[in-house]
Amino acid sequence: MSKILVATEKPFAAVAVKGIREVVENAGMELALLEKYTDKAQLLDAMKDADALIIRSDKVDAAVLDAASNLKIVVRAGAGYDNVDLQAATAHKVCVMNTPGQNSNAVAELVFGLLVYGVRNFYSGTSGTELKGKKLGILAYGNVGRNVARIAKGFGMDIYAYDAFCPASAIEADGVKAVASAEELFRTCQIVSLHIPATAETKGSINFELMNAMPKGAIVVNTARKEVMDEAGLARMLEKRPDFKYVTDVMPAIHAELAEKYADRYFSTPKKMGAQTAEANINAGIAAAKQIVDFLVNGNEKFRVN
Ligand code: 3PG
Repeated sequence: MSKILVATEKPFAAVAVKGIREVVENAGMELALLEKYTDKAQLLDAMKDADALIIRSDKVDAAVLDAASNLKIVVRAGAGYDNVDLQAATAHKVCVMNTPGQNSNAVAELVFGLLVYGVRNFYSGTSGTELKGKKLGILAYGNVGRNVARIAKGFGMDIYAYDAFCPASAIEADGVKAVASAEELFRTCQIVSLHIPATAETKGSINFELMNAMPKGAIVVNTARKEVMDEAGLARMLEKRPDFKYVTDVMPAIHAELAEKYADRYFSTPKKMGAQTAEANINAGIAAAKQIVDFLVNGNEKFRVN
């Protein structure tokens, strides 16, 4: 009997685990759960006899793959798979998938939670600003970016987007203005929301020059990955531009320093929570379980990323 391990340092809602269990057991497979683990050794131990693995931001490296001699597939229940060593997985003949789009509305809603908190001066009671009529720049027009655009329309924002891989015509078809570069997006928009993945090309790409080109009263919201931000550039931007705010769901390494110096212009959630809703957990978790069953039973490799 195939064994599917759900290993989540940050657990899914119980209702999502129930749904995953139903999919797995209805397929005649066994579900094992490792939630809230604190030590990599616990993960290595749990991997021993697993045929398939469902994870979130949990790190899967060569050591994890070495510990799992039966492993055939890893599904990252979510969008970004920068936490999985794809080369090592391929070398171990393990298929890696993600579940694109399943948690994107949850992340997009949090963008506005963070933005309203930011433009209203962190609910301090002082006079803030509104989102209506402001130019919003969406950097990368994928599943989350599209949902951000949809919600921004309700706020009456003037919406711009740049995506190196998505044709301008697809962006414009949504009633969003496509710009030619990230530089143009930052130069044009007072508010920029980051939705780029962490790759060799994007890491550290949001730098001082880019942010400093933003109009007065600038705010950057990052619900993507901390690695895309050039943290020295961010510190410099907060120092040089007293009008600038940074609100994020992905805590920078220099969080303590920024929180101490710029408590009125910098905010980070304590733990990444963009996708932490019952709906997103159910959507992504159940999609992951279904993809595994379909792979093990029918060999379906849709959503394979390695
Ligand atoms: C994703 O890439 O899907 C999001 O960043 C959510 O990540 P999480 O599952 O760790 O909350």
